[in-house]
Amino acid sequence: MFENIQIAPPDPILGLTETFKADPNPDKINLSVGVYQDANGKTPVLETVKEAEKRILAQENSKGYLPMTGEPVYCAQVQELLFGAGHEIIDSKRAATAQCPGGTGALRVAGDYLHLQHPGAKIWLSNPTWANHNTIFDAAGLQCEEYAYRDPNTNGLDFDAMYESIKTIPKGDVILLHGCCHNPTGIDPTPEQWSKIGALLAERGILPLVDFAYQGLGNGIEEDREGLLELTKKVKQMLICSSFSKNFGLYRERTGALTVVADNTEQAATVMSQVKLRIRYNYSNPPSHGGQIAAVILSDQELKAKWIEEVAEMRNRINEMRHLFVKTLKEKGVEQDFSSIIQQRGMFSFSGLTKEQVLQLREKYSIYIVGSGRINVAGMTVANMDRLCEAIKSVL
Ligand code: LMR
Repeated sequence: MFENIQIAPPDPILGLTETFKADPNPDKINLSVGVYQDANGKTPVLETVKEAEKRILAQENSKGYLPMTGEPVYCAQVQELLFGAGHEIIDSKRAATAQCPGGTGALRVAGDYLHLQHPGAKIWLSNPTWANHNTIFDAAGLQCEEYAYRDPNTNGLDFDAMYESIKTIPKGDVILLHGCCHNPTGIDPTPEQWSKIGALLAERGILPLVDFAYQGLGNGIEEDREGLLELTKKVKQMLICSSFSKNFGLYRERTGALTVVADNTEQAATVMSQVKLRIRYNYSNPPSHGGQIAAVILSDQELKAKWIEEVAEMRNRINEMRHLFVKTLKEKGVEQDFSSIIQQRGMFSFSGLTKEQVLQLREKYSIYIVGSGRINVAGMTVANMDRLCEAIKSVL
């Protein structure tokens, strides 16, 4: 049965990392996959994660299955991080959370739920969006549509175009919004713009699905939830797919969550009962280790405070690299204006480099950037900056 199977195309993001690993050039630079690297180009295990793992190892007394929706303590901590302790949504118990295998797992569960319970609902994605959004929702059987987002002239948000395209979305459809640190552009709406988006979604009866994978890497843990909170003031029902891959550095532990926000407790539980079935038919119940780590850290005031500092360190380094990148290009006499990269937040920026230039960077200089021109700023270091900017100058 396998004779006629065609080889699959490489994944546009993870496939590049495979090619990068095989590249023998000792000066190669990986600015493709969204993984944080420190000043030495390493992806560290956070100190707080190490400490939590010690405690887990000492105390863990069972490897029995978790519930289909995961560890309740973890789920409660997810909600507290999303909305802030004492938020009305938490106090009135109108949210229900399922621990999921990473943000990707949460998105797929959400897609499966939507496909089965809201047949005919289409999902609207920003143009551009994360390369995997289309494929996840397509695999779940949802039709994907696009709404306007980035202004190519300013490399900023084209809010008017975005607003106008949301007006064309039919009632009962779903819109995917990036909670902060938009992937791939690093361009986010302001809180005022979030508020306007929320009002429009409520007026038109469109369900928001918020992909929230970078909390803390933009402006701060609390600052980065401002957009989500503006949305909750206008819209009562939503889905939130969150991830601890980046802000806890738990990439390989697959630590994410799907949170349903509903009108009331009963409605949230009803929707979650359907979500649970999707989980059961897909992977049965989530892996435990990453969730335990996050729960230990977030439940201990001292560890949590230290973790917030560790996130700030990652965020500050990324923002320093944004400045250094723009400065170095200027010093090298590059005329193209890259200054919008300083305003953008999170791991990514849209460089505006063409597919051809991206290919030249890879083939001539072993510098790996996603085909769309998305750069992972978190892969830049003081040590690789000169070589990177010299190479970009030459392909420009
Ligand atoms: C990315 O966009 O690079 C990350 O979210 C990792 C991934 O799975 O693609």
